[in-house]
Amino acid sequence: MRLMVKQSSPPDSKPSAQRSAVRRGETMRALSANLFALLLVCALASVFYVWSALENHLERHKRDFSVPGRGSFHQGPSEDLSAKTFRALLAVPAAQRHNSGARSEGQNLTNTSAFMGTRDYHVNGDDERSAQREGPVKLGSPVDDRIFWSDWLEDLLPVRFTEGYAEVWRNKARASPVVKLEPGCGRISNQLATFSDGTKACVRYGINADQVQGETLTYYLASLLGITNLPPLVLSHIGDSAQWAAVRTRINDLQWSDRAVVSLTEWISNLTGVVTPAPLRQESSGLHPALKWLENKTTAGLLELMQWSDLIVFDYLTANFDRLVSNLFSLQWDPHVMERDTNNLLKTPYGDLVFIDNEAGLVHGFRVLNMWEKYHHSVLSSVCVFRKRTTQRVAELHRHRDSRRRLLELYRDSEPLSQELGFLSDEHAAVLQDRIDRLYKHILHCKGKYSQL
Ligand SMILES: Nc1ncnc2c1ncn2[C@@H]1O[C@H](COP(=O)(O)OP(=O)(O)OP(=O)(O)O)[C@@H](O)[C@H]1O
Ligand SMILES: *[C@@H]1O[C@H](CO)[C@@H](O)[C@H](O)[C@H]1NC(C)=O
Ligand SMILES: *[C@@H]1O[C@H](CO)[C@@H](O)[C@H](O)[C@H]1NC(C)=O
Ligand SMILES: *[C@@H]1O[C@H](CO)[C@@H](O)[C@H](O)[C@H]1NC(C)=O
Ligand SMILES: *[C@@H]1O[C@H](CO)[C@@H](O)[C@H](O)[C@H]1NC(C)=O
Ligand SMILES: [Mg+2]
Repeated sequence: MRLMVKQSSPPDSKPSAQRSAVRRGETMRALSANLFALLLVCALASVFYVWSALENHLERHKRDFSVPGRGSFHQGPSEDLSAKTFRALLAVPAAQRHNSGARSEGQNLTNTSAFMGTRDYHVNGDDERSAQREGPVKLGSPVDDRIFWSDWLEDLLPVRFTEGYAEVWRNKARASPVVKLEPGCGRISNQLATFSDGTKACVRYGINADQVQGETLTYYLASLLGITNLPPLVLSHIGDSAQWAAVRTRINDLQWSDRAVVSLTEWISNLTGVVTPAPLRQESSGLHPALKWLENKTTAGLLELMQWSDLIVFDYLTANFDRLVSNLFSLQWDPHVMERDTNNLLKTPYGDLVFIDNEAGLVHGFRVLNMWEKYHHSVLSSVCVFRKRTTQRVAELHRHRDSRRRLLELYRDSEPLSQELGFLSDEHAAVLQDRIDRLYKHILHCKGKYSQL
């Protein structure tokens, strides 16, 4: 691992969960509440700093490679502070608790073809169908087979980033010179790049090696699961003169190291924010097949929910706390956080959700799992409707126990700089497989729980 890592320098080095918290605190009208929020953040930051320096030290010994100058970066909510609030916020509804496990015996998701028919879950993005998305639901129940989104709904889902589309973009992005670097993709370490043909990408220069690795491996895990909500991504070497020559001065100003490997993701125009749907908010009973609320939804609303179910599954597997979980955490000082847009989630005018900024996934997320796991678990527990294709892929990875091998192969075959950036440690690869197994069991549990429908 030769990635050059800058020592963290505030405010850039704070993970966005924390920065969002600060920012949201600032928007509060009451001065006293504002001060309280800032104090809370400061207190948290100092606890994390001490804790993470220690954890970082221990962790470095376990890794195959060592990174010189790795800044301390890890953080999570303090146990004492957050535990009570969060347990209340995310409490699993009583009905669900009493039911846990028992009825899932006798169910078996292993035979996925018997389980879900033999349909090919390729979905497409025809714009002609958009008219059907607006009106009230006429096409029958949104859920079939007890806990799965219906086929007719799957058929209407727009898919922007198909595998073919992503491959074309990746090839182009690798071969195109960057002619401009400017702000426009969040914090200063993320720059908006313009290619010579005028198209754009967000460049992420990780403050910490974990970040670029997390972003990249998360992208390939999505691909493995058939989740197509992430913009295509490639890695690039800043020292690559052909690609970066035109913006050398700007790179020097940014103090980016020539040795750094950065990620480039396609920049998407006309994106808007997304508010967390009511069933997934803290006061609700969760997203499950018996929900009366579903009966009143428009097709567009159902299509969005269907993508949310993938998002929850995906953020659980990758332990990404920097989306729904961080918003829920912010509720402690910002009671209106759920009425605002969700972190790192956007939507195209066609209705496809775009999962951006996945750098907390897999690597950093696994490192701080002790702190966040109960919240990840609670969020997953609140969802009992799934996409068939995602379930099928999860069942396969569960049955073959080969998530490490398949992710590594896909990453190596698709990304020329994979060797340079490195892969999950054995320990983290085992954590991923374990989460796949837990998710599988949860789906099984839902199948049993809603067997009477
Ligand atoms: N691929 C993209 N296409 C279009 N806009 C993007 C893309 N990626 C990021 N952005 C824009 O940049 C903003 C910040 O992106 P991102 O979350 O990746 O950076 P960040 O530094 O973590 O910022 P924040 O702290 O706001 O989360 C997004 O809200 C969005 O407006
Ligand atoms: C599930 O079914 C498969 C065959 O479809 C079988 O091999 C496997 O042992 C079963 N697992 C359980 C837990 O019953
Ligand atoms: C799996 O389901 C298919 C289709 O129903 C069936 O033909 C096959 O025998 C099943 N396999 C097992 C091991 O149950
Ligand atoms: C984005 O919105 C603008 C203004 O509404 C429109 O002209 C443009 O075509 C849109 N771009 C895409 C890619 O939809
Ligand atoms: C569905 O919508 C109607 C009319 O807006 C409303 O009266 C009814 O309560 C809604 N039902 C549910 C379950 O939300
Ligand atoms: Mg972000």
